[in-house]
Amino acid sequence: MRKLLIIFFFISIAFSCNKRNTSTQESQTHEYGLITEKAMVVSARKEASKIGSYILEKGGNVFDAMMATEMALAVCYPSAGNLGGGGFMVYRMSNGDVGALDYREKAPLAASKNMYLDSLENVIPLKSILGELAVGVPGTVAGVFEAQQKFGKLSVSEILEPVIELANKGYKVTEKQAERFNLHDSIFRAVNGKEILYSKNKKAGDTIKNIQLAKTLQRIALNGKDEFYKGETAKILVEYLSERGGIITLEDLANYEAIWREPITFKYKDINIISMSPPSSGGICLAQIMKMIEPYELKEFGHNSLKTIQLLSEAERRAYADRNYFLGDPDFVQIPTDTLLSDTYLYNRMRDFSFEKATPSSEVFHGNIEFVESDETTHYSIVDQFGNAISVTTTLNNTFGSQLFCSELGFFLNNEMDDFSSKAGAPNMYGLTGAEANSIEPEKRMLSSMTPTIVEKNGKLLMTLGTPGGSTIITSVLQTILNVEEFEMTMQEAVSAPRFHHQWLPDYIRMEPNKFSKALIRQLEAKGYTINEERSPVIGIVDGILVTDDGKLEGGADWRGDDTAIGF
Ligand code: DON
Repeated sequence: MRKLLIIFFFISIAFSCNKRNTSTQESQTHEYGLITEKAMVVSARKEASKIGSYILEKGGNVFDAMMATEMALAVCYPSAGNLGGGGFMVYRMSNGDVGALDYREKAPLAASKNMYLDSLENVIPLKSILGELAVGVPGTVAGVFEAQQKFGKLSVSEILEPVIELANKGYKVTEKQAERFNLHDSIFRAVNGKEILYSKNKKAGDTIKNIQLAKTLQRIALNGKDEFYKGETAKILVEYLSERGGIITLEDLANYEAIWREPITFKYKDINIISMSPPSSGGICLAQIMKMIEPYELKEFGHNSLKTIQLLSEAERRAYADRNYFLGDPDFVQIPTDTLLSDTYLYNRMRDFSFEKATPSSEVFHGNIEFVESDETTHYSIVDQFGNAISVTTTLNNTFGSQLFCSELGFFLNNEMDDFSSKAGAPNMYGLTGAEANSIEPEKRMLSSMTPTIVEKNGKLLMTLGTPGGSTIITSVLQTILNVEEFEMTMQEAVSAPRFHHQWLPDYIRMEPNKFSKALIRQLEAKGYTINEERSPVIGIVDGILVTDDGKLEGGADWRGDDTAIGF
């Protein structure tokens, strides 16, 4: 009997390994992304992945490649890639050390709680969304320098050289990009009061050069981070904003620091997850959902089956209700992280869950709070030839941020101030309302949903992943991890699979249109769920890298964008 059990054990291991062993016969039935031996960059643009990968080939590590990829995205993916925004990075070194970097924007010193309210305390439409007052103090340059100076190997000028060349020589506009530029053309003109680099009717295949950005990057290559926060660039930026009535000062820029944070780490079955801590809600929310669903046999329920969708939606509903109420900048508010992640608390959160019928959101803690995803952020994942991995999500907030383009410096400025709650209970541009924990205060960081995440298994790197998508970021990361771990998909299959999303309020399950069968939708409706297929044409644009069973790297680049994996 014992012998039989041992044989069965080895057969089952061999079987479960097959899908991630790229050289077996079984692997032929799976769809794979790019496979490389040593290193890989997956990002929103081919040009940026190529530059990141080139830096790795030159002997750089993930942190050198981060600086190169992030700056290249600012050149060729200006709707989200940025110098004028912020982001979060989670890393895992080849020796297993992990950490997280917060380079989120923050409120200027002159910001105040009611700055977007009129004399009757009503929110003034668009004030936190468009133009100079929407801009938070940018963190991106501080972030890439902090990571590179602490852990990188190459010189900044070596790293920025190909980026500056890209800005000078230009990149080709893709179909999706041309659509985006043209859609925003009139708003660019309205906010900037003139045409900007991206204004004229752009067509796919056109080349865009950004000479002013090349000059800014050149100065940064020469003078380092201080160029952006204290140097000529800082002066140009502050002058540009204050001429328009903006409130960011030289002092704000000089005070800005990226902050190293303890990542949120937790176990789900036999994987270990490392994700972003506050001021992002990503890690806590992901941990809550995964711990709430852990006791169930998802694999038996099946991928995107009735029971899986019910279970995930109910856990998501409960986690998002908590997110809205409890989370904010940890340097300003106390977050009860231990309680939020404790087994007892989460067990109690799910006590009223039943497969028989939906729990209405009105019966779940803290009503009347709505989250809606914004349009554009970007994520990239990198693994280097030394075995280090990073996961980085960066943003201007929605597409092209505040729409303010500083022509002299060659970049857009964020509208991240809209991620604060302007007034408790009043929805912002995305219908998002928050509580006191996320109210505006000078120098406070606004709450985020960005969820750069790394997964370990058996003490080794398994996956690095993340996505844009506003509030849908967390649930897209969740589903991608489950697709690999529970439903045995390859990285590419996990990224490509149809996604759904529940965020407590509005009380419906958002689904990517025409990806789920009508019969399944009818079954869910019969259980009391409302389904919305109109809201989101796509949910998330996930970019990830999976370590296969034979030690190679498999990239998952999302078809929902122009995303591309490159490596060697
Ligand atoms: O930090 C956040 O949660 C938002 N500013 C992210 C915006 C976003 O993902 C838009 N992208 N699709």
